[in-house]
Amino acid sequence: MKVGIIVHSHTGHTLSVAQKLKEVLVSAGHLVNLEQVKAVNEDPSAAKNIQLKTKPDIVGYDVLIFGAPVHGFSLSPVMKAYLAQISTLQGKKVGCFLTEYFPLASMGGNRAMGEFKKACEDKGGNVFQTAIVNWSMGQREKKTANALEKLGKL
Ligand SMILES: Cc1cc2nc3c(=O)[nH]c(=O)nc-3n(C[C@H](O)[C@H](O)[C@H](O)COP(=O)(O)O)c2cc1C
Repeated sequence: MKVGIIVHSHTGHTLSVAQKLKEVLVSAGHLVNLEQVKAVNEDPSAAKNIQLKTKPDIVGYDVLIFGAPVHGFSLSPVMKAYLAQISTLQGKKVGCFLTEYFPLASMGGNRAMGEFKKACEDKGGNVFQTAIVNWSMGQREKKTANALEKLGKL
């Protein structure tokens, strides 16, 4: 299948999970592109009126996997702005993953994932899988492996 992994990553954690996911999916025989959403101003304190510098095109993919960080117990505003601007996800399988610092998904991740899923479903996407990588407290490798296991099964 043709898979687009599209991430917003401010400090590189989400991107590193996306790179590993790409390796898993390529090994499974899929055609995978990894692309990044970028804002003109990436400073998280400039989270209002976000203008996007790069807006990856979703056309042509069978499956889209979006990844983003949790910012302030919410989906990163840059990913929110991107999802609001893309065309329809109708007929596409969609996966979502988040990275966050805090050790429990109840500390921002679950709330942010609710927003993430809804933004994709509002565009008609069929969300087949979600994953949260909480990377503090030494859980990074285990949580990353869990996310790859879930998202790697298309
Ligand atoms: C402005 C800002 C707000 C954040 N808010 C949260 C939060 O509410 N909960 C949490 O667990 N981590 C929070 N973090 C940490 C990030 O979610 C975490 O470091 C994430 O893995 C960063 O991903 P990235 O390196 O791809 O940008 C925040 C980080 C920033 C910069």
